[in-house]
Amino acid sequence: MRSGQRDEPPAEPGSARAQPGNVGKRRGLTGAPGVPPLIDGWGREIKSLRVSVTDKCNFRCRYCMPAEGLEWLGRDEILSFEEIARLVRVMAAMGVSEVRLTGGEPLVRRQLPELVRTLAPIHGVEDLSLTTNGVLLDRFAGPLVEAGLRRLNVSLDSLSHVRFAEITRRDALDRVLAGLEEAERHPELRPIKINCVAMRGFTETEVPALAELARRKPYVVRFIEFMPLDADESWRGDEVLTGGEVRRIIESRWPLEEIPAKPSSTAQRFRFVDGAGEIGFVNPVSEPFCSSCDRIRLTADGQLRTCLFSRREWDLKRPLKDGSSDSDLADLIRFAVRHKELKHRINEPGFVRASRSMSQIGG
Ligand code: 5AD
Ligand code: SF4
Repeated sequence: MRSGQRDEPPAEPGSARAQPGNVGKRRGLTGAPGVPPLIDGWGREIKSLRVSVTDKCNFRCRYCMPAEGLEWLGRDEILSFEEIARLVRVMAAMGVSEVRLTGGEPLVRRQLPELVRTLAPIHGVEDLSLTTNGVLLDRFAGPLVEAGLRRLNVSLDSLSHVRFAEITRRDALDRVLAGLEEAERHPELRPIKINCVAMRGFTETEVPALAELARRKPYVVRFIEFMPLDADESWRGDEVLTGGEVRRIIESRWPLEEIPAKPSSTAQRFRFVDGAGEIGFVNPVSEPFCSSCDRIRLTADGQLRTCLFSRREWDLKRPLKDGSSDSDLADLIRFAVRHKELKHRINEPGFVRASRSMSQIGG
């Protein structure tokens, strides 16, 4: 269990840093009355939960999955919608206000809009969003909006058919673009964000067309530095195309100016100086933002992960099945959160990869 010794929080979790002005920054507290907020051992307040609803995916993106041979979780290993909703209720009472559904590809889970319908009205959940590869979006955008979804992230790494197929190992660009068009028809669904994983030797040539898409369409295009979460374990530091580099490519054509972002935001936001459109940079490798991280993750099989790069997980599935009360679950979650890792160590010698790859964790 104790793989991350150096990352252990102060002996009295919360106390050493729980000083006014640090943990005390309780603006926007949304938890239930009388329930203390979820604060980790380093004083960070947890506001955001990523829920992976399936480990399966209909793409095989190179930065995430192997071409073949990944074993899926069994049906009985996966949390039911009721179980997910119960955990979200428990966490919302502790102040988690942002919930993002992810996968694998969340839309391959049957009846996903039903989960959205259950989660959207939960007291305290102010922001419910979905990260998808977009290939099923033309069919699901309407039902998702109707169920209460208001925000969407779509992965898109290239606007060239050949390059898109190269990176996703699927020939599906037209369907993703059709999915985006369908999403655009629903004004309730804003902002629509596009996530592009920036890889050296691939993304440089894709940047101008993606930037142009941000100018032409109401999509916020965000470049995310490639992280060592690929199942093939082929990641090397020099394959990361940094946000700074992407920005220079864009600015050689279209100057950008920064838009102030929320302190907990992972993205640096920019607008085009000469017209409409927004670009974002998520730079976890070149400019880690761990010190303001307010996120935890729930895997499809009910494991709580306190960091993308966690080497340990906290089992919530068993307590869900064995009749534990909500307050037992809350205690367990609180305990896990106290042990949240200080930071990732991607850039340090001896970095050890996470115990699972991205599609199994939930991006
Ligand atoms: N590095 C960075 N981002 C990744 N994603 C998947 N794998 C990686 C990786 N190795 C992102 C994709 C997708 C989201 C679910 O996770 O952009 O949008
Ligand atoms: Fe599927 Fe998303 Fe992983 Fe691509 S990044 S293989 S779309 S889970």
